Amino acid sequence: MYTIKVNFEEKDHESKEIQVEEGLSILEGLILNKIDLNHNCGAVCACTTCHIYVENGNDHIEEMSDKEEDYVDRAANPRLESRLACQCFLDKGKGTIEITIPDQSDIIGHEH
Ligand code: FES
Repeated sequence: MYTIKVNFEEKDHESKEIQVEEGLSILEGLILNKIDLNHNCGAVCACTTCHIYVENGNDHIEEMSDKEEDYVDRAANPRLESRLACQCFLDKGKGTIEITIPDQSDIIGHEH
């Protein structure tokens, strides 16, 4: 089981801590904990709307594939810590991960 600290770039969102089981993706963990993150392609690594920054704990997450790298480069404001949450599968084990969800208000189809 992992503890994920979730920060938000959007100022009116408070940071949260959630528990997510190994083997799930960070996107799945967020959805199960009722935290909104866009996933317009249906979590098949074919868009950039699930873009997050992994601030700490990247070593607990499956490595980035070439396909993810290709898409993450097209996200708004990519950084070294950028990942696509639907591709961030948690390794076997436990630990703590900290992520930041970028401002999603400019994403087409964003309803929140
Ligand atoms: S939901 Fe489209 S790449 Fe993750």
